[in-house]
Amino acid sequence: MQKKFNNVVVVNHPLCEHNLGVIRDKDINSDCFKNSLKRLSTILILEATKDLPLKSYEVETPIQKCLVNKISDEYKIIFAPILRAGLAISDVASEIVPDASIQHVGMYRDETTLEPVWYYDKTPVLYDNPDSIKVFILDPMVATGNSAHAAVSLFLKKGIKIENIVFVSILSCPQGLELLTGDFPDLKIITAKIDEKLNARGYIVPGLGDAGDRLFNTFEK
Ligand code: URA
Repeated sequence: MQKKFNNVVVVNHPLCEHNLGVIRDKDINSDCFKNSLKRLSTILILEATKDLPLKSYEVETPIQKCLVNKISDEYKIIFAPILRAGLAISDVASEIVPDASIQHVGMYRDETTLEPVWYYDKTPVLYDNPDSIKVFILDPMVATGNSAHAAVSLFLKKGIKIENIVFVSILSCPQGLELLTGDFPDLKIITAKIDEKLNARGYIVPGLGDAGDRLFNTFEK
């Protein structure tokens, strides 16, 4: 039986299953991979943003006045894609929430140590009002959890509360989730599936291979 992780929401939806099946297949092309990953991202972003606070206001329809709702501006919404595979999720996230700020963070994985190496950080040195920020960190894969851990730590260091950070990931595995839920028990994680394990090279099993390479067609054949 699969271990249950606190604060990890596994989104069960037939369209998640369908699109996961598509992106696991090594024989599909990059375009097909990207489109199915984006469909999955849409479902996960809807789940991740479902608790955003609303504010009501009045409009006049062609028939009469009525109260409607909008996303409250009490919070600034930030999507933080971890480069480069997180870009596929931020593309759809910014379409669904067009007023959000997209703050890229770039890390690559050292293939020997499996530790993240920072190369880009588009977050400001200081946030004006960190208590009024909600951050959605986006990365299709939580494998070792090291990059995810580094990204969450970055936002915590800048004063964002852990309860205002959500991690959105298409595929995850027990090892990465152990690390994240162990160090950040209040971090909310949204994923479409928890796979079986990691292999010796730090790839998720059965997984889908290297998400960045598959998205951007950068395989060495
Ligand atoms: N990153 C990927 O893209 N795939 C994995 O399986 C692990 C990390």
